[in-house]
Amino acid sequence: MSRIAYVNGAYVRHSDAGVHIEDRGFQFADAVYEVCEVRKGLIVDLTRHLDRLDRSLRELRMAHPMGRDALTVVIREVLRRNHVRHGMFYLQVSRGAAKRDHFFPSADTVPTLVITAKSTDPSVMLRKYETGIKVITLAENRWDRVDIKTVGLLPNVLAKQQAKEAGAQDAIYIDRNGIVMEGASSNVWIVAADGTLVTRPAEYGILRGITRTTLLDVAAALKIAVEEREFSRDEMLAAREVFFTSATGSCTPIVSIDGKPVANGHPGSVAANIRDAFFEIAEKTAI
Ligand code: PDD
Repeated sequence: MSRIAYVNGAYVRHSDAGVHIEDRGFQFADAVYEVCEVRKGLIVDLTRHLDRLDRSLRELRMAHPMGRDALTVVIREVLRRNHVRHGMFYLQVSRGAAKRDHFFPSADTVPTLVITAKSTDPSVMLRKYETGIKVITLAENRWDRVDIKTVGLLPNVLAKQQAKEAGAQDAIYIDRNGIVMEGASSNVWIVAADGTLVTRPAEYGILRGITRTTLLDVAAALKIAVEEREFSRDEMLAAREVFFTSATGSCTPIVSIDGKPVANGHPGSVAANIRDAFFEIAEKTAI
């Protein structure tokens, strides 16, 4: 008996089911989900699960894939087609498939809806209830491992979108002590009053950008002094220049932060010189 999944309007064989490779759930974790128990042929706490789904969608300003009555029909149909009496259904809604870009896609992007169902053996759970389980403890780290380049980019997506809605193009994270972390998809640099390039250490709390690492080589070649140290938002606001580095943005000057101009409000020469020298120094591999 083959399992059946619901994907965007169609009931398909589980083994053939798939979403687009540019689905935002796949690329940004820009998606929400629910898992709901099925016991003795009955869905448990459906209303509360669908209420929480509504809330999750609302919080992320994601479109609802369909009304609650229609959704309930589809959930029932998936459970029926999979002959589930004991088990669960899994439901995921993503912001849909769109060209990869952190900003929310255009409003007509259709959300992706996937529903799967699975039978489980109640006797396995019963055994667990009888024997109990062993656990470990660990430091809360959901999700401070931004040093790993994962697709868990939902906070970055929301930051970029917030920037866009504030009339800006990007966002910079500041920690609770007022220290600059990094951009939503880039590393941050400042040029201090004495011309020194400053960027925060990449040991923790930020992604160690490849462009950042190569830029350290560029600075050495151009004999520009560099300090890898923390700097505050205030120091950044008073800097001679502020710029971003990333593989897609090279060395991008920042001319305004929270509505205040950086220096005279125009791109500076240090960022331009670095950008000019960058390609020369970076590794280049023939296609
Ligand atoms: N982003 N920090 C974050 C959070 C990033 O997403 C990126 C890159 C960087 C800079 O890393 P690199 O120099 O290796 O590109 C720093 C890519 C460009 C993106 O998500 O589109």
